[in-house]
Amino acid sequence: MSHHLLQGKKGIIFGALDERSMAWKAAQRVVEEGASITLTNAPIALRMGKINELAKECNAEVIPADATSLSDLEDLFSKSMEKLGGKLDFILHSIGMSPNVRKNVPYTATNYDNFQKTLDISALSFHKVLQTAMKLDALNEWASVIGLSYIAAQRTFPGYNDMAEAKALLESIARSFGYHYGNKRKVRVNTVSQSPTVTTAGSGVSGFDAFFHYADKMSPLGNANADDCANFCVVLFSDLTRMVTMQNLYHDGGFSSMGVSQAIVEDMSGR
Ligand code: NAI
Repeated sequence: MSHHLLQGKKGIIFGALDERSMAWKAAQRVVEEGASITLTNAPIALRMGKINELAKECNAEVIPADATSLSDLEDLFSKSMEKLGGKLDFILHSIGMSPNVRKNVPYTATNYDNFQKTLDISALSFHKVLQTAMKLDALNEWASVIGLSYIAAQRTFPGYNDMAEAKALLESIARSFGYHYGNKRKVRVNTVSQSPTVTTAGSGVSGFDAFFHYADKMSPLGNANADDCANFCVVLFSDLTRMVTMQNLYHDGGFSSMGVSQAIVEDMSGR
């Protein structure tokens, strides 16, 4: 159901790969709420993915951009402003990839070239997006920028490997850039720390099934799913959250405040 919370707003959604992607659901929801958008992903993902289906549904242009490339990002922002007819009001950075996770390289025997790629793709790209937006003066005052994060930035989840460092860096960039962009243009920058969610990136993490169910049993509300995440993004892009910035906002059904739940205690009893 639409509340017209984003009527007339314009934005860019990064990272919709297939219908399970968090960005896919977010794109559908922001359009439902009245926004017009462009969609973007890495050129290779565009070839593999089904983004054109989503683009048709959302009446959106697809503009390829490798989020680690400043020239691709400049092109993306320029074209997005041209297509959408003006400056932008929101950006969703929904990008994550670790070559070490993909290739099952253990954390304690990491490959540092891979590690640097993890940081570049999953965290520095957020800085590059913000820096490019600022350089081109592409965002309206009170625009809202979100990066998606995970609680492995604060707590240890061994299977998450070097993505933990990437998320810690991503959240730090939100605070640091949030200061500068807030001062300069009243732009808000936040990260949303989402529950484990069944997507291509999520299920690539080793032991994902186990910790998905563990988090679900630990959280009083259960895991937040991709539809819930899309709703939360709508609220954060809306004018109803104008004074929220430089925050890492847990969107996890209560997981981050838990020690242990009765359901987990019962699971462990009788062992
Ligand atoms: P996904 O695999 O659908 O999305 C990841 C996206 O990153 C893909 O569309 C991929 O093409 C894109 N990407 C990779 N390299 C890129 C590059 N160089 N330039 C531009 N785009 C690039 O998976 P999901 O789960 O929707 O991931 C979205 C975000 O949510 C990621 O930041 C992820 O870490 C985060 N997240 C995911 C959770 C989960 O359990 N699935 C939990 C918490 C956060």
